[in-house]
Amino acid sequence: MAVRSIFRGVGRYLPERVLSNEELSKTVDTSDSWIRERTGIGQRHIAAEGETTSDLAYAAALSALKDADMDAQEIDLIIMATTTPDYTFPATATLVQERLGIRHGAAFDIQAVCSGFIYAVKLADSMIRTESAKNVLVIGAETFSRILDWEDRGTCVLFGDGAGAFIFSAQEVDETDINRKGVLNTFIRSDGRFRELLYVDGGPSTTQTVGHVRMIGNQVFRHAVRDISQAMETCANEAGIPVSEIDWFVPHQANQRILNGVAKQLKINPEQVISTVEWHANTSAASVPLAFAHAKVDGRIKAGDLVMLEAFGGGFTWGAALIRL
Ligand code: ACO
Repeated sequence: MAVRSIFRGVGRYLPERVLSNEELSKTVDTSDSWIRERTGIGQRHIAAEGETTSDLAYAAALSALKDADMDAQEIDLIIMATTTPDYTFPATATLVQERLGIRHGAAFDIQAVCSGFIYAVKLADSMIRTESAKNVLVIGAETFSRILDWEDRGTCVLFGDGAGAFIFSAQEVDETDINRKGVLNTFIRSDGRFRELLYVDGGPSTTQTVGHVRMIGNQVFRHAVRDISQAMETCANEAGIPVSEIDWFVPHQANQRILNGVAKQLKINPEQVISTVEWHANTSAASVPLAFAHAKVDGRIKAGDLVMLEAFGGGFTWGAALIRL
């Protein structure tokens, strides 16, 4: 027997305001047909004035606690993946901890841009395996609209705001049981050589400004398909599970063409790939839990299912996580 991380629940929150491609094309030189054809995106949610990343994260956390049927006081660790924190410090996770009324345990942020949620799941799983935490709230939350250059059509059409959260709990399991539940394996990578293909042109120590997202999209695209495919294969191989046995694939929602490219490369049935690109656009660290929540609520992802999460983002960073519900 060994202590492993069991999935307990998922939550989500999307800001009320929806910005359609049609509406966006009135202020930026673009069109609904260009955006749909190149990305699959139809709309994105945008946080209201004064609505912050911690507001979105808090709402997603409450929704996850409800799904898990747990009280906030049971949580002893909060890991928040975000690129758009409320403040340079303190960590946004501590703001959520405070709002949840949690006065014990620890809370901190991690930064791996769009791969942040996968990194956070890896960390949560490691903390549980080493018996450093019992019930971990993992949040991916972003107000990416705040770091977009709304005059750069190459980037501003791609992103949206939102938050998603998972809860994992420590449980003694029989490791030899091939049908055992929980986090089966995680895989993360980064390669800092590619910083200039996807980055933000500001920060506290360089410009003392927040900066805007800059990206050479077509080059990011090529790396994304190759690296995501390799990450998923490695993650599955290390767990001793063939990719063909996985029930659902929940990818980072950057672009429908990337999702299709990866599915083709790994010979995955596109119907097993959860896509919310059309409605949410790219919500960075929030995209994986948001897509997962969508498919759980509509009844596709069920207890017992084998699910592969994956993401790719700035850094470059990338990774995958294999979980049985
Ligand atoms: N509307 C109309 N035309 C546009 C737009 C737009 N919104 N954006 C760019 N164009 C134009 C360009 O100016 C260019 O015009 P030109 O030929 O006259 O110079 C033309 O469209 C083609 O531009 P490309 O960049 O080559 O277009 P591409 O087919 O590669 O699509 C896109 C661009 C959608 C950005 C794509 O490359 C992509 O999705 N890349 C990956 C993005 C991604 O995955 N990011 C990763 C995660 S993000 C994160 O980590 C923060």
